[in-house]
Amino acid sequence: MMATAAIIGGGVIGGGWAARFLLMGWDVRVFDPDPEAERKIAEVLAGARASLPGLADVAMPQEGRLTFHPTIPEAVAGAEWIQESVPERLELKRKVYQTVQEHCAPDAVIGSSTSGFKPSELQGDAVRPGQIVVTHPFNPVYLLPLIELVTTEANPVELVDRAKAVLEGIGCYPLHLKKEIDAHIADRFLEAVWREALWLIKDGIATTEEIDNAIRYGFGLRWAQMGLFETYRIAGGEAGMRHFIEQFGPCLSWPWTKLMDVPDLDDALIDAVAGQSDAQSGAYSIRELERMRDTNLVSILRGLKAQNWGAGALLKAQDVRMSTLPERLEDVADLSQPILTVSQAVPLDWTDYNGHMNEARYLTAFGDATDRMMRLVGCDADYVASGVSFFTVETHIRHLDEAKAGARIRVESQCLEGQGKRMHLFHRMYGGERLLATGEHMLIHVSLETRSSAMPDDRVAVPMARLAETHAGLPRPEGAGKAVGVR
Ligand SMILES: NC(=O)c1ccc[n+]([C@@H]2O[C@H](COP(=O)([O-])OP(=O)(O)OC[C@H]3O[C@@H](n4cnc5c(N)ncnc54)[C@H](O)[C@@H]3O)[C@@H](O)[C@H]2O)c1
Repeated sequence: MMATAAIIGGGVIGGGWAARFLLMGWDVRVFDPDPEAERKIAEVLAGARASLPGLADVAMPQEGRLTFHPTIPEAVAGAEWIQESVPERLELKRKVYQTVQEHCAPDAVIGSSTSGFKPSELQGDAVRPGQIVVTHPFNPVYLLPLIELVTTEANPVELVDRAKAVLEGIGCYPLHLKKEIDAHIADRFLEAVWREALWLIKDGIATTEEIDNAIRYGFGLRWAQMGLFETYRIAGGEAGMRHFIEQFGPCLSWPWTKLMDVPDLDDALIDAVAGQSDAQSGAYSIRELERMRDTNLVSILRGLKAQNWGAGALLKAQDVRMSTLPERLEDVADLSQPILTVSQAVPLDWTDYNGHMNEARYLTAFGDATDRMMRLVGCDADYVASGVSFFTVETHIRHLDEAKAGARIRVESQCLEGQGKRMHLFHRMYGGERLLATGEHMLIHVSLETRSSAMPDDRVAVPMARLAETHAGLPRPEGAGKAVGVR
């Protein structure tokens, strides 16, 4: 059965939540009085469809169903998660919870996207305060995993645990705050930086562009992968954090920051910030900037994933959870047919200036298919650690059709030969029913010590022979063994 989420308020943030839930397989029911809401959510969804599925290296769940509803009671019917993302006004949010609670399931989670309010303020005099928690996301909600989960004593442990499980299930990282506080953790931090930036502009020290450059060419890159404290630990040299504090601690009392002073947001400052921002970025539309932001985020996140670090480690763990592909020959349902070895969406950063998947990425996908075939015949991490493996000695790829970012692709692999030191593989890549490419690979079994060919032992020889024998019954693929230019 599909899970159902209700989205109350479908603006920038509500639209992002809708996209994340939908792409993770939930049915989504939206209420937003804005007649433009449907169009705006469609725009957000288009961005999410191109970027989110490609963060995974496994197939995402089937997309859920998106429906729009004229009233809150209709939207929350049957929902186990209700995400409130209406404008940041306490009395409005409380009014919304009142209507929601009159009509929703009593055990549904009501999460608020509030950037600033504490959960106790939101719970106020609600009939069931224990149902309401803060689940504060970051824009774009469909790509950034952090959700600040803020609860109170009124929230039953069972509901909090369920909230965490749901958030993890849709690919988020719930950071459960030990205590409630205005603006939670991240926005307090961002507010301090924002205040400081406004002072730098007001005092004529820097422009919006110079401030952005100070972040993105330097410490912003460090923050994305290690945050603040781990970065400073390294900055202390081999003596670590204690030395860092000894060295830089005294600066805290120097006039480096404006601390709590708030610059007067008068017309002159607003004009300066808006004018500089137009000069810096006005050549792009907001939608163009969003697409650039999403592509960059996908590249960064996939880079971190390759390192199994930070937000990338989260993505890797999610892949393990979601993967349904076989790891051992015994897991293959029908060994007499080509084996499904890759099933994923085309990542946004796999596409090139022609708007389709770059030819090098076909090899990436076929390489992944080959790796899975190796594991299936017993050449897994333990086997390689024992000093033996396969090397690919020849590859022939035919590019037959296009694939765009976010499109689902799958690779089916056939073993043409598996005998002695040789494993000869033929991969077919499909997008739906369309054959996109074929990849033919010759692998030679090697000793990692001598770096030359060597016979496999029975751990690989036996399953490889079994696979080759069953696949010998398959017709030889069209295109196998052909020379360049021959179709
Ligand atoms: N923008 C951000 O970067 C950001 C980040 C994290 C959290 N938030 C929080 O998310 C919430 C929403 O912010 P946003 O940026 O999406 O604002 P937004 O103005 O883009 O969207 C608000 C939406 O709520 C709708 N709305 C108004 N009254 C409503 C009602 N009674 N019932 C249902 N919908 C109603 C509006 O039509 C609009 O579509 C706020 O609490 C904000 O603090 C914003």
